[in-house]
Amino acid sequence: MSFAAHIITAYPDMFPGPLGESLQGRALADGLWRIAMHDLRDFGVGKHQNIDDTPAGGGPGMVLRADVAAAAVDHVTAQNPLPVILPSPRGVPFTQSLAQEWAKGDGLIFICNRFEGVDERFIAARQPLEVSLGDYVLGGGEIAAMVMLEAILRLVPGVMGKLESGADESFSPANDGLLEYPQYTRPQSFEGLDIPDVVTGGDHKKLAAWRRAQAEALTQNRRADLWADFLKRKK
Ligand code: ADE
Repeated sequence: MSFAAHIITAYPDMFPGPLGESLQGRALADGLWRIAMHDLRDFGVGKHQNIDDTPAGGGPGMVLRADVAAAAVDHVTAQNPLPVILPSPRGVPFTQSLAQEWAKGDGLIFICNRFEGVDERFIAARQPLEVSLGDYVLGGGEIAAMVMLEAILRLVPGVMGKLESGADESFSPANDGLLEYPQYTRPQSFEGLDIPDVVTGGDHKKLAAWRRAQAEALTQNRRADLWADFLKRKK
């Protein structure tokens, strides 16, 4: 069974967007994953099929109605019992380990906010998992859903084809949660900078040790948080 991405949004034309390009676009065409769009407007209420309204108690912007969000999610989950993700700056941080976990599943349902957010009663009643990309505010959940999907899809078997590696890359367990070591390719000399001898020397043991030392140094210098986690795990 291929990985299914269900997207509930008021802007279905934003998809597949970048997910229709490059390796994940090829994989989409080849049926290794699929995308199903669900237009929030189809679940709108009243003559104008409204999906949002002004915030109770006042304040700027518009709030996605709980009844509309719930109707859309119920419609999709009835046929597709998959985890429901609500991209939101309030959510748990998105990480490589979440991507790995979700890549093993059958798919996900993303409900995308625009506006000031969604009525809290939708969250209380349907309990979607709120997930954040980081400590900044996007205009909506659509691009956040695309980012998460791109990270997930490259871990879905077959999507990367022969390039499938993933083992050594940044954050991966096989790399001990360290940042990835530096990469080089032709030419041998670029603006007076040469590829380090150890990289092209052919001594695989020496190269592995060098890459490991580079990964550790990069992580220690750039990411005190990851470095502290690494030291804790080593103990
Ligand atoms: N929607 C708006 N901001 C977001 C963020 N930082 N992460 C995920 N979804 C969002």
